[in-house]
Order: sequence, then structure tokens, then C-alpha cells
Amino acid sequence: MDKNSSKVFFYKGLRKIQNSLYFFFFIIALLVFSYLARDNFSEEEADYSIYSMSYDTNILPDSPRGLEIKYGYRLFIETSQMLGVKSKENPYVGNALSCNNCHLNAGTQAFAIPLIGVNKRFPQYRGRENKTGSLEERINGCFERSMNGKNLKENSKEMKALLAYMNWLGRYVKEDEIINGKGLLKINYPDRAVNLINGKQVFDKHCVECHGEDGQGEKIDNYTFMYPPLWGSNSYNNGAGMTRVLTAAMFIKYNMPQGTTFDNPVLTDEESYDVAGYINQQLRPAKLNLEADFPIREKKPMSTPYPPYADSFSQTQHQLGPFKPIFEYYKKNYNIEKNK
Ligand code: HEC
Ligand code: HEC
Repeated sequence: MDKNSSKVFFYKGLRKIQNSLYFFFFIIALLVFSYLARDNFSEEEADYSIYSMSYDTNILPDSPRGLEIKYGYRLFIETSQMLGVKSKENPYVGNALSCNNCHLNAGTQAFAIPLIGVNKRFPQYRGRENKTGSLEERINGCFERSMNGKNLKENSKEMKALLAYMNWLGRYVKEDEIINGKGLLKINYPDRAVNLINGKQVFDKHCVECHGEDGQGEKIDNYTFMYPPLWGSNSYNNGAGMTRVLTAAMFIKYNMPQGTTFDNPVLTDEESYDVAGYINQQLRPAKLNLEADFPIREKKPMSTPYPPYADSFSQTQHQLGPFKPIFEYYKKNYNIEKNK
């Protein structure tokens, strides 16, 4: 072999290496691409099958446990009738709502604050009280605020029945399993204050039909509502989670008008935001001692409508936005990303 032909071999060898390098990169690119594609795919195809299991309490036998779960279920959907002013001299519920009015389909609807699996998420740290709280305490939080009432005794038969119902709802959820569809689904709130005029227009167009011109809903009798009131003495008080405009907007966008589910919203983000602002500017029962909430102030959700705050934005801005500046403030100063 002369000098020249060995050079040719040398270059051919290089070309081979080059080709196999191309091939190598091609395979890597393919792997990266299929990984990314798989990721998008799994996001679209998130598993919500837990919500289509059977949660009909009628399937339960009339055993002591079956009866307790059925009683818990009734308390959940007829809360004010069973625990309100009608039934007791000393009622636990101070308005005309039932748990079911916000935890839709008896607590089994995705992104309507479902209670399937909630028993596995508690005890849990709670910023409002700055301590680790039990599920009983969380339920009582809704009694005191959403129901404008007072605490059930932790060992009362009502509390035990509500827990039995929630434990039963969670029977398909594994310990520590994170299920899709819990809580509420985030919206992209606009970078502006709530427009109350637009909020009223959305209300007139999409809500009046059921909740009434005056927001008082539609009664069947004095204690039973076909459509629940959105404000006034029969609604949730000003310490409830639903009084935060961003919480209400997330609930409304993916659950209202009635029949809406998270995968077929009717309202836009802007409409939900404006109408949530509108209903939460109306009068409702006042809870005492709200300044004691969130002892670690920076943990307070940014649309909490009552002071004190760990910032110097006005109370009006906390109620009606714009929220982007408040979001940026907590991100910069506390590295907390708030979404409600
Ligand atoms: C006016 C609406 C409303 C009513 C009525 C209501 N709740 Fe709630 N509930 C909420 C909101 C809002 C949250 C918190 C959602 C959030 O901000 O993530 C919540 C949270 C909860 C949680 C914790 C859920 C979780 O995923 O961590 C439980 C348990 C609960 N409520 C039980 C009840 C029970 C029991 C009743 C009836 C006695 C009731 N609620 C009535 C609005 C309501
Ligand atoms: C077709 C009737 C209907 C329409 C229209 C409707 N809702 Fe509702 N809404 C309901 C019912 C029924 C519930 C209680 C859910 C349940 O018990 O299943 C409810 C519950 C609520 C709740 C939580 C409970 C409460 O009383 O605070 C809010 C907030 C709410 N609706 C806001 C709205 C807003 C805002 C609109 C308009 C964008 C609207 N709804 C349109 C029927 C309706």
C-alpha cells in the first residue's frame, strides 16, 4: 500500500465515524422527541377515572357502617335542613347552604373541590391556623365560614358520619396517591382590576336565571333551596374561601352555570374573574376575629378580602386586583408563588 491509498483509507474511516456520529445524534434526537411527545400526551390524557367509580350510597347495605355512611351523605347534601335553624334550638349551620352546593355531586366532581381521597391528605399543615390540622378541623373550617355556623364536636355522631362518608369516597385511592382533579383548576386571571360593570353584565346574562336578580337563589321552602343564594344572610360569610375573588373565579369558570365541567367551560377567564368580583362585593354575614387568621402573614392568600396583610397594597386591591403586582411582590420578597 502506498502513502496515498493509506490516506484514502484514513478518510474513509473518518467518514464512517462521521456517519455513525450522525446516526447516534439522530437516535438521541428521536429519544428526546418521543420523551417530550409522551409527556404532552400524558398531560392531555390525565387519568380522571377515579371520578367515574360508583359513589352511590344506595349500593350500601343497612349494616351499622352502611347506615353511618348514608347518614353522612344526607348531612352532606341536606346540611342546612338537618343542622340548621329549622332542626335545632342551637344550630350548627347559620345559612341556607349545604356542603353539596360547593363540593358538587356530593363531593365527587373533578375540580369542584372534590372530597374523594381527602381522608388521605389529612392531617395537613394549614396556613390559616399555622398548625397541622386534622380532617375534623378542616370540616369545621367550612362549618364556621362556608356554612356561617359553628364547630361540630369532634366525637359527635354528625362528625363521625361525615368522616365515614369521606372515608368511603376515598376507598379506591391509595395511601399517598396524588389524584388528578383535586381542589380547583387555575385560571389565567387578567392583569387588571375586576371590572364590576362587566361583572354585573355577566351575572345578568349567565347567573340570574337560577340565582335570581338579587342573588338570593330560589327557595322551595324557608330552609330548602332549589338554587342557593350567592350573598346575603343565607350565604357564606366573609371569612369563607369562596369570598376570595380568585378562588371564586376558579370555581365559577369550571363549574357554573350548572352543568359546566372543567373540560367544557362556558365563561372565559375574564368573565369568571369579573363576575366573581361582582358577587363578592355584595353584603354577606360577617365572621368575628378574622384578623387572627394566618398568623404568618405572608402565607395569606393574596385575594383574602380582609386585612392585615404582609404588604402595603390596599385592601381594595386585595379584593379586586390587579393581582400581578401582588404576585410579584411575594415572589420577590418571600419566594412564594400565590395563585389565589
Ligand atoms: C360556599 C362554598 C362551600 C361550602 C358550602 C362548603 N365548602 Fe368545603 N370548601 C370550600 C372551599 C372554597 C374550600 C377550599 C378550596 C381551596 O381553596 O383549595 C373547601 C375545602 C373543604 C375541605 C378540604 C378539601 C381539600 O381538598 O383539602 C373539606 C374536607 C371541606 N371543604 C368540607 C366541607 C363540608 C363537610 C361542608 C359542609 C358542612 C363544606 N365543606 C361546605 C367551599 C365550601
Ligand atoms: C342552571 C342554573 C344555574 C345557573 C345558570 C348558575 N348556577 Fe350557580 N349554582 C347552581 C346550583 C344548583 C348550585 C348548587 C350546586 C348543587 O347543589 O349541585 C350553584 C352553586 C353556585 C355557587 C356556590 C354556592 C353558593 O351559593 O355560593 C356559586 C358561587 C355559584 N353557583 C355562582 C354562579 C355564577 C357566578 C353563575 C353565573 C356565571 C351561576 N352560578 C350560574 C345553579 C346555577
